[in-house]
Amino acid sequence: MKVNQAEIVISAVSQKQYPNENLPEIALAGRSNVGKSSFINRMIQRKSLARTSSKPGKTQTLNFYKINDSFFFVDVPGYGYAKVSKKEREAWGRMMEEYFQLRETLEATVLLTDMRHPPTEDDIIMYDFLKHFEIPVLVVATKMDKVKKGKRDKHIKIIKEALDIEPEDHLVTFSAETGEGKDEAWKYIRKFL
Ligand code: GTP
Ligand code: MG
Repeated sequence: MKVNQAEIVISAVSQKQYPNENLPEIALAGRSNVGKSSFINRMIQRKSLARTSSKPGKTQTLNFYKINDSFFFVDVPGYGYAKVSKKEREAWGRMMEEYFQLRETLEATVLLTDMRHPPTEDDIIMYDFLKHFEIPVLVVATKMDKVKKGKRDKHIKIIKEALDIEPEDHLVTFSAETGEGKDEAWKYIRKFL
């Protein structure tokens, strides 16, 4: 997909702040630091529209990026970051539930996992949570530039098995660093729009 236009519309913490333009939305999900914001930047070829950081916990709000005036990427705060208080974790849970459970314009979610490692317990819970709400999921195994070519197939198999990916959901390997997997990711995302 050729992206001519991309802009942040709002950083929201609750429903009343969501955009009301009625455009389809593709949300991101995944552990803190897995590369959700980097995924958006690479997909739209903008180095730093979505703020990234080598430290986990960078994205704290639901950030709505309007793309080509036709859909939104919704960047979300990651999970699994140890250094958050119980109160913060609860607030995160409420924000996520409110969005994923109630948002009618949410068409699909891109669930990112770190290709170097087996999915975490939280990744499995997140996938099951999305399936519970019957949300289509594209699983993106990212940071593939950090996995040697000869080991990639084995890692993909482990991820597919651990998440128990449903037949209608697909897995794409990806690198925000090199751009590998970008066209394939667009191929699936386009179908949701
Ligand atoms: P939170 O906002 O904290 O939930 O994190 P996030 O999932 O948005 O991660 P972010 O995009 O900020 O990336 C975290 C770190 O991983 C940054 O240092 C990125 O440069 C790095 N990173 C992201 N994707 C890749 C990738 O494909 N390959 C490599 N080598 N590094 C990556
Ligand atoms: Mg982020």
